[in-house]
Amino acid sequence: MAAAKNRSCGPFPSSPSLSSSLVLLFSVFSLCQSSFSAETSGRNLSVELNPGSPSAPPGGDLLHVRSVGDNDTLHFLFCSQGAPTLLLVHTNSSSSSVTVNWTQFEARNASGSLKVEPESSILYSSAIVFSRLLEYDDVNDTAEPTSDLFPPYELQDFSWSRLNLSGPSSLLCGAAAGFSNGTLCLQLSVFASEGRDQSWPRLLHTANSSQLRVWLDGVPPRATRSRFLLELQAVGGANPLSRVEVLRSIDDEFTPSIFKVSQWVSSLNGSSGVLGFLQWKPVAYRRADPALEFATPCRHSDPRPQSGARTAASSALIRGFYAEPQAFGLNASFGLAGEPFYNSTKFLSWTVLLGVGSPPLDAFSPLVLSLMAVGLGTPMILLLMGGACVCLRKRAAASYEPIN
Ligand SMILES: *[C@@H]1O[C@H](CO)[C@@H](O)[C@H](O)[C@H]1NC(C)=O
Ligand SMILES: *[C@@H]1O[C@H](CO)[C@@H](O)[C@H](O)[C@H]1NC(C)=O
Ligand SMILES: *[C@@H]1O[C@H](CO)[C@@H](O)[C@H](O)[C@H]1NC(C)=O
Ligand SMILES: *[C@@H]1O[C@H](CO)[C@@H](O)[C@H](O)[C@H]1NC(C)=O
Ligand SMILES: *[C@@H]1O[C@H](CO)[C@@H](O)[C@H](O)[C@H]1NC(C)=O
Ligand SMILES: *[C@@H]1O[C@H](CO)[C@@H](O)[C@H](O)[C@H]1NC(C)=O
Ligand SMILES: *[C@@H]1O[C@H](CO)[C@@H](O)[C@H](O)[C@H]1NC(C)=O
Ligand SMILES: *[C@@H]1O[C@H](CO)[C@@H](O)[C@H](O)[C@H]1NC(C)=O
Ligand SMILES: *[C@@H]1O[C@H](CO)[C@@H](O)[C@H](O)[C@H]1NC(C)=O
Ligand SMILES: *[C@@H]1O[C@H](CO)[C@@H](O)[C@H](O)[C@H]1NC(C)=O
Ligand SMILES: *[C@@H]1O[C@H](CO)[C@@H](O)[C@H](O)[C@H]1NC(C)=O
Ligand SMILES: *[C@@H]1O[C@H](CO)[C@@H](O)[C@H](O)[C@H]1NC(C)=O
Repeated sequence: MAAAKNRSCGPFPSSPSLSSSLVLLFSVFSLCQSSFSAETSGRNLSVELNPGSPSAPPGGDLLHVRSVGDNDTLHFLFCSQGAPTLLLVHTNSSSSSVTVNWTQFEARNASGSLKVEPESSILYSSAIVFSRLLEYDDVNDTAEPTSDLFPPYELQDFSWSRLNLSGPSSLLCGAAAGFSNGTLCLQLSVFASEGRDQSWPRLLHTANSSQLRVWLDGVPPRATRSRFLLELQAVGGANPLSRVEVLRSIDDEFTPSIFKVSQWVSSLNGSSGVLGFLQWKPVAYRRADPALEFATPCRHSDPRPQSGARTAASSALIRGFYAEPQAFGLNASFGLAGEPFYNSTKFLSWTVLLGVGSPPLDAFSPLVLSLMAVGLGTPMILLLMGGACVCLRKRAAASYEPIN
């Protein structure tokens, strides 16, 4: 009798109960996941290069990706005439369109050469201009760009390749004088549904965002201890991206060892709702095939108001679309004191998302959740069962005592 009691009620729960609770946990997670992905509506994408232009424009390409939802459209416009620029226009109609007057657009001296029509359907627009690449000689390894800056590379003066399209993703590479065979490349990806990129930092995206990966490959540094900064300008009509929030993020299996996510957001005055965002994880990679040891931290300066007129002069897309552009600028800087210099690999890549609405936020992945469930759940089950056993034994002992 005692032996039978011990078997059913020992310190270790019998395996069927543990495995059945695991199966239950897993099915709950997969249920959650499938209902979640069913909720997020997809979009239909169509890609058009140089809309309305009979031939390839000599000044550079203009890519238009139309992303149509049930009752709205996102127009992604990516252009290399001048500094590379990505413009996102959100309309409340599923039939809005983009028209370009190419003679005006290429002359770059008047706004209104690129229109999203009907104009009354525009809900929100935002653009990001990659304006300058800065390099400094970090002689004392402090990673502070102080006085030892080299003359900046103006991205509007680069010679840019034609856009290389493959599906809804496109690649633009360019070089400045003195780059020899080095390049600065930007890869744009637009998405029909929610997901995650294959390469690190594996940012979570939705159909309301696009991803830009920027990398610097084989550029000859002007000093052995060179580090780089990238200057970005955010442009909007009424509500440009104006403040950067740094949120805690979880250290998950997708971006190991990174605990933060930064988002440069635009919001209406006094309202907490976010209209649009540029989001990134504060990490860059020193190799094209990233591994943890090639991750390098990235920092940003505070956004500062910039001259909208100067920004418009540097980018055909800004000039053509915005009548009164407002701009904020910031610098992203790569590497910290003590980190290897650019010459260690002569490679640096960084990834951002540009989108409308609220930025996507990482949740614990199902794998991590189930590991946590097993890690926390098993001791709980053991404790509960242990407690139950002790109780049962005490009661059994109490009830048998008089008989003995
Ligand atoms: C996408 O296209 C398919 C087929 O053309 C259509 O059935 C569907 O409704 C479209 N979805 C959206 C969001 O426009
Ligand atoms: C889209 O508009 C139609 C009617 O115009 C409406 O019935 C439908 O609920 C709208 N869908 C969404 C997702 O807002
Ligand atoms: C484009 O702009 C030019 C110069 O302003 C103008 O002469 C021409 O008519 C415009 N073309 C169209 C199709 O509107
Ligand atoms: C823009 O430039 C073109 C040619 O460069 C010129 O013909 C036109 O008058 C200019 N327009 C304005 C508004 O300055
Ligand atoms: C949405 O579109 C309609 C026309 O279809 C327009 O009258 C209305 O002003 C638009 N709403 C907003 C908020 O822009
Ligand atoms: C580097 O350190 C030396 C000695 O401490 C100092 O004189 C020099 O100004 C520093 N250079 C920079 C750029 O900080
Ligand atoms: C275009 O991109 C594909 C892969 O993205 C690459 O294989 C191909 O070589 C590129 N073509 C040019 C002309 O750069
Ligand atoms: C994308 O934007 C549309 C329109 O604002 C919104 O209805 C939808 O919920 C958004 N989707 C996600 C995944 O944020
Ligand atoms: C650039 O050229 C050098 C030799 O001149 C070569 O070793 C290097 O791999 C090239 N880099 C790229 C990115 O093509
Ligand atoms: C990079 O520069 C440092 C500092 O001068 C030097 O020690 C190192 O050898 C260089 N590395 C490469 C790969 O050239
Ligand atoms: C936004 O609100 C602040 C005070 O909360 C005010 O100083 C500022 O002028 C407002 N800006 C606009 C564009 O309304
Ligand atoms: C970026 O850094 C450079 C050098 O420190 C500075 O001149 C420039 O104003 C900065 N840009 C912004 C937008 O803060």
